Amino acid sequence: MSHVSQAPVTTPDAEPVPPVPTSFDEVKGWFSAHDQVLFDWFLTRQNEAAPVAGDLLELGAFMGKSAIFLGGYLRDGEEFTVCDLFDSPAPDDFNLEEVRDSYPTLTRRGFETNYLAFHEALPTVIQAPTSVVAEKVRPGSCRFVHIDASHLHEHVVQDIASSRIVAAPDAVVVFDDYRSAHCPGVAAAVWAAVATGELHPIAVSASKLYATWGDPQPQQAALLGWLEDRSDLWHGVDVIDGKPLVRIGDEGAPVPPAPQPLHPPVPVPAAAPAPAAPRPAPRPGVRWRRLAKDLLPPLVTRAIVARRRRARA
Ligand SMILES: C[S@@+](CC[C@H](N)C(=O)[O-])C[C@H]1O[C@@H](n2cnc3c(N)ncnc32)[C@H](O)[C@@H]1O
Repeated sequence: MSHVSQAPVTTPDAEPVPPVPTSFDEVKGWFSAHDQVLFDWFLTRQNEAAPVAGDLLELGAFMGKSAIFLGGYLRDGEEFTVCDLFDSPAPDDFNLEEVRDSYPTLTRRGFETNYLAFHEALPTVIQAPTSVVAEKVRPGSCRFVHIDASHLHEHVVQDIASSRIVAAPDAVVVFDDYRSAHCPGVAAAVWAAVATGELHPIAVSASKLYATWGDPQPQQAALLGWLEDRSDLWHGVDVIDGKPLVRIGDEGAPVPPAPQPLHPPVPVPAAAPAPAAPRPAPRPGVRWRRLAKDLLPPLVTRAIVARRRRARA
């Protein structure tokens, strides 16, 4: 079965209209299956087991992969805010180089097209450096903050400080790339905040560190209880400065149900086979010969044929 083509089209002013994704897999981004499982656990728990009030916030949205996922956990009356430069200039040369090298084709329009393929309404979009977040987002309002914008040390330090201002009590704050070789500034900023004793790590995956500015113990205890029953996620507990930290690794955990497009692709039925061309009606003589061949004994047929030939000669 084939699907309606999603090829980019061009508007009259020649600005290309981004293609509309027809599945979550088609949305580009960096959001592992394993971290989707952990986001789902933290957000579902906030929604159900231990209700935590508050909004959602993402710093660094790119084409919307993690934002589309997060938007699925938004409850009535809550606000989801994303902050990204998109196609605006970065605030300094290092950041300019970072975004030019890593996200050269990113546009706000691309993000919005992707997001609206899965949700009825856009989140609140702040198109600006993340340094403005603490002024724009209500203090103490967010229950979940995903920090995945600039990976430069001084920006991450600022994002950490902003997350503290906007976080609700017991909010989950997630840091991407907290230990990647290509961005040591993130590790330096995150571990410094932990070392001061203010930011409390709950758990780490290969790519993300899950922390809180509140008391980590209830979330850690619930997480460990959940992990006990999971054979598709391995875990261990390290003690850092006298406090436990849960390490979690993937052993084939199935991803949570993917966000579904609002308008699934229209299946195009397979083309029906072309009708067979009508057979030409046999010429009268041909029809007679076929009938004679089928019905008369061969000797009689041969005699008739010989007689007709002699008559024509
Ligand atoms: C790694 S990507 C985000 C990936 C996304 N969360 C996902 O899961 O696919 C980082 C994003 O941060 C944005 N960014 C980089 N520096 C920024 C800054 N100083 N302020 C705001 N956004 C920034 C980039 O434009 C890019 O879209």
